[in-house]
Amino acid sequence: MPSDASNSFGISAQLKNKLIQKSLQRRLKSQTQNLSDHGMHASHRLPSHDHDPAWRSPAPSIGIPAAYYSFSEMPAYQQLRIMHESGMRLKLANPFFKVHEGLGSGETVINGRTLINFACYDYLGMSADHCVQTAAKSAIDRYGTSVSASRIVAGERPVHRELEGALAAIYDTEDAIVFVSGHATNVSVIGHLFGPRDLILHDEFIHNSVLMGIKLSGAQRLPFSHNDWQEVDQVLQRQRQQFERVLIVIEGLYSMDGDIPDLPRFVDIKRKHCTFLMVDEAHSFGVLGEEGHGIRTHYGLNGSDIDIWMGSLSKTLAGCGGYIAGSTALVEHLKFLAPGFLYSVGMAPPLAAASLAALQRMKEVPERIVRLKKNSRSFLERAKAIGVNTGLSEGLAVIPVITGNTLQAVRLSDALYQQGINVQPIFYPAVPEASARLRFFMSCLHTQAQIDFTIQTLKSAMQAI
Ligand SMILES: Cc1ncc(COP(=O)(O)O)c(C=O)c1O
Repeated sequence: MPSDASNSFGISAQLKNKLIQKSLQRRLKSQTQNLSDHGMHASHRLPSHDHDPAWRSPAPSIGIPAAYYSFSEMPAYQQLRIMHESGMRLKLANPFFKVHEGLGSGETVINGRTLINFACYDYLGMSADHCVQTAAKSAIDRYGTSVSASRIVAGERPVHRELEGALAAIYDTEDAIVFVSGHATNVSVIGHLFGPRDLILHDEFIHNSVLMGIKLSGAQRLPFSHNDWQEVDQVLQRQRQQFERVLIVIEGLYSMDGDIPDLPRFVDIKRKHCTFLMVDEAHSFGVLGEEGHGIRTHYGLNGSDIDIWMGSLSKTLAGCGGYIAGSTALVEHLKFLAPGFLYSVGMAPPLAAASLAALQRMKEVPERIVRLKKNSRSFLERAKAIGVNTGLSEGLAVIPVITGNTLQAVRLSDALYQQGINVQPIFYPAVPEASARLRFFMSCLHTQAQIDFTIQTLKSAMQAI
């Protein structure tokens, strides 16, 4: 990345960045203000692609603001266009929707170039695994590509129950159930099990799918400070009696920050206050525990210590979907009553077979789990040694590089991309503006040479921008 220390007006690159950042923030703020006043002043409106007659909004004739009947005038879309426009003005390549031309694992190919890839969650290289791929292909030969119905009517196949049985065995629970999407698992399960007379306490860094589930449930929502089990205890001390059911939701490994909760403390609290505890293992399964079996084995807990184990099949398990493991009562309940399961198609056979095979492969190739841990530790140590702000990361597959503002994150991601490294920038609203970052997802497939090259490149790119 060429260092443009000063431009033709003698303004330093850093100052220029700050000015652009401030102007962008001002525009977003004024946009939000205008929209919340719902006046949509024309002077602040972006030129959109409404010159295409097909997209043009009808002229307002009865005093209804355009934002109420035109997609192109909707606040969120206007903000998106401000971001795009700013990116174009800064000549930054759009970091989103890059097309990967093959496997997105430790390496990937984009625009014909092979890059070291830190943007996918194939932690144990299962999506690239021959046995996993063969299992998926055989399932297609036997059952086709889709079960074409909800499982309760005509969509059940042996591979569904085999997968659920394998998950229940790993979690040491009575049963498990798989859903067709990880996100929809949280939405549907939380949305169905809880209601307006209940309280849901969640970590402030919890995933969007949990928040959407809470919204659907109509329960009272109370975020608590990240990993702060003492705060949860205090809140429940004061408020437990005001609610019927109470659910505490945490993640096994936080996907933005790469740290883990003190799970035994949360178990104590849930017992003390008679609540439910749910752990989302989307990123901890495959990563924590000697066999990769997640945070339960990391802390040596029993399956029944947690009421709702949730996980995603799209990360370590090389498929697509989500799962819940727990008691028979919980699983039966969801099987017959949760709308996202009952009224949705059963999991596609090749996906169920791929995840089942990945579970089996985890037993056969334990060296991959060791390698993933070694790679993660190595990356974190080296990043810290060059002065990178890695936030709370514990060196467990997820390592943020905190830049502190969006522009720096996008610039750094772009600079690394030019040098053959694919890593995604993350910024507001996914994280607060001051903690905008790059997020490195490690894989057991990364080599030490790739890690060393990435750290060296990161160091020079950070100095240059
Ligand atoms: C913590 C967490 N929960 C749930 C999900 C949703 O899972 P999926 O992407 O498989 O739908 C994600 C997705 O990244 C996640 O990070």
